[in-house]
Amino acid sequence: MTGFRIRVLTAGESHGPALVAVVEGFPAGVPVDLERIQQDLRRRQVGTGRGARMKIERDEVRFLAGVRFGRTLGSPLALLIENRDWANWQEVMDPWAAEPTPAAQKRRVIHPRPGHADLAGGLKFGHTDLRNVLERASARETAIRTAVGALCKGFLALFGVDVRGHVRRIGGIGLPPDQTVEWDALQELDPMDPLPCVDAQARQAMIEAIEAAQRAGETLGGVVEAIAVGVPPGLGSYTHWDRRLDARLAAALMSIPSVKAVEVGDGIRAADLSGSQVHDEIFYSPERGFYRTTNRAGGLEGGVTNGAPLIVRIYLKPLATLRKRLRTVSIETGEPHEAAFERSDVCAVVPAVVIAEALVAWVLADAWLEKFGGDHLDDVRAAYEAYRRRLGLLRSDDRP
Ligand SMILES: Cc1cc2nc3c(=O)[nH]c(=O)nc-3n(C[C@H](O)[C@H](O)[C@H](O)COP(=O)(O)O)c2cc1C
Repeated sequence: MTGFRIRVLTAGESHGPALVAVVEGFPAGVPVDLERIQQDLRRRQVGTGRGARMKIERDEVRFLAGVRFGRTLGSPLALLIENRDWANWQEVMDPWAAEPTPAAQKRRVIHPRPGHADLAGGLKFGHTDLRNVLERASARETAIRTAVGALCKGFLALFGVDVRGHVRRIGGIGLPPDQTVEWDALQELDPMDPLPCVDAQARQAMIEAIEAAQRAGETLGGVVEAIAVGVPPGLGSYTHWDRRLDARLAAALMSIPSVKAVEVGDGIRAADLSGSQVHDEIFYSPERGFYRTTNRAGGLEGGVTNGAPLIVRIYLKPLATLRKRLRTVSIETGEPHEAAFERSDVCAVVPAVVIAEALVAWVLADAWLEKFGGDHLDDVRAAYEAYRRRLGLLRSDDRP
């Protein structure tokens, strides 16, 4: 992920020794809340619909560079999460054996799964064992980006910005598309809830839908919403296409495997309504300054935050690895065959909640540093204070 200020590179195969990330562009002096990062990693693993792999992994991040005495140094951060499952896959994934080991031969994938990168990736890179594709295309990579996002959340929290997500729908069941979810309701959700939804009845119905899909050898997709509060007006920019915050959020969220659409505010419904039903009228009072009585735009106008809560939704397709096998062909003979099946989740909508939060936090932290950037946290604070003063938002007793 290349932002204007924070660059993130990741590497790691799903069954390799570890996942790693290098994060460049973070200022010095930022406290790193390791427990907060570990908690988000645990949240990625607990959801209803997760398969056996998550019972093996106990993701824990280690910082190998960029932190001293609990604070960032301003130099690149290096993060690592070990794959516990590596112990069982060493022969399959052996980096140095002169030729494929018997274990690797046994685990060869030659029947590409529809809906995965298997076939297109194999053609692109010339792989005759599609394991070389699926190991990296796997959403296991999102673990390390969840850790990076949690780091960004910690940075944003210093300025009163908070990002939370929840499940709106699974398999067509859940909250109606026009139901607004308030921030207070999100705060009441247990972060470790195996299906975080603000409506208890909808939650139960979604759990039952996942269980039924599991029994039927099926998979389900759904809709996740992430909301960020405390976001000041002015992050992102209308001045150039690639600085638009809506575009940056869409790109980041679309990079989550299985996400097929991203919505800002009421974006999808708005396409069917007329202008007066969609736009948020502007009011002013000396006490409140500029304000709106609605937030259908989801806190973004012209690619710039407008001070209202930021609201984005992601739409995930049902997972592509099914016990109820789909039809495919052998890449060796072209003969029809059932698609390969590898231990798989039934539904990845719940883990997508914390992943979406992480990516929203990364985009916001990047935009924050683009606007208020400095080499040390104190420089960022000073720039933010000066900006709030210019907008008339800062009282003398009110340090961020
Ligand atoms: C947290 C998470 C877990 C996932 N687990 C699985 C899985 O167990 N089985 C599966 O077929 N797809 C899984 N996926 C989705 C695939 O990784 C994804 O559909 C695939 O890489 C193809 O990418 P695309 O759907 O974006 O085109 C998961 C996605 C996420 C976000």
